[in-house]
Amino acid sequence: MGIFGVFNRQKKEAANLGGSLLVDIHSHLLPGIDDGAPTMDHTIGMLRKFEELGYQKLILTPHVMSGVYDNTSEIILRKLDEVRKVSQELGLKLTLEASAEYYFDETLFERIRTKDLLPFHGNHILFEFSFRNRPSQVEDIVFGLKSAGYQPVLAHFERYMYFHPSIEVAKSLRERGCYIQVNLNSFTGHYGPDVKNQAIRLLKSGLIDILGSDCHRLQHLELLESSLRETVFHQLLEAKVKNPLFL
Ligand SMILES: [Fe+2]
Repeated sequence: MGIFGVFNRQKKEAANLGGSLLVDIHSHLLPGIDDGAPTMDHTIGMLRKFEELGYQKLILTPHVMSGVYDNTSEIILRKLDEVRKVSQELGLKLTLEASAEYYFDETLFERIRTKDLLPFHGNHILFEFSFRNRPSQVEDIVFGLKSAGYQPVLAHFERYMYFHPSIEVAKSLRERGCYIQVNLNSFTGHYGPDVKNQAIRLLKSGLIDILGSDCHRLQHLELLESSLRETVFHQLLEAKVKNPLFL
């Protein structure tokens, strides 16, 4: 058994993770505006599954990436309206809100300057780095967001391979006031063993502020559901994360 072997053991009962987190703050459910749900039918399938898993509220965060996903706040809020209507008609009880996942590039600094951002929970901004190239202005973006009155939330820290196996950058960002978000499916091994190990390192070191599904399709939730008996998901129930505070 490897050093993380203890996290792979299975318990009999599935962890009631959705019922404990209550709020998911990272997903791609708004139909047809990024690489998530392609149609409203796909959106509905995921909404139903989130409700089954015990969640009470979802904050929908489509990609905003200049030249790739040019989603304005107006586009996002219009889509949110459509999804809310359908959800109500279906009798679903989930509370739905929208924000975005902002890709870190030169345009993000301009967005901060002009306050062209759609935060969640008042002032929280979810942002992501390139998966390929280590960003050079990691601290600058956190400083920029904080100075403008926003609460930065770095998406899926464990997925940036150029930081592996160190968690020092996560520590340093947290010291500067940035929250670290980790994907639930990183603990299932969905993104590979290195990402899983990095997620477990963050968990063991108490560096996870927020957990997110980063759900792009129903299969992501089904994989999560089928993994909830694993010990690591019971450990996650004990992690002091902020998700319920966003209810
Ligand atoms: Fe995402």
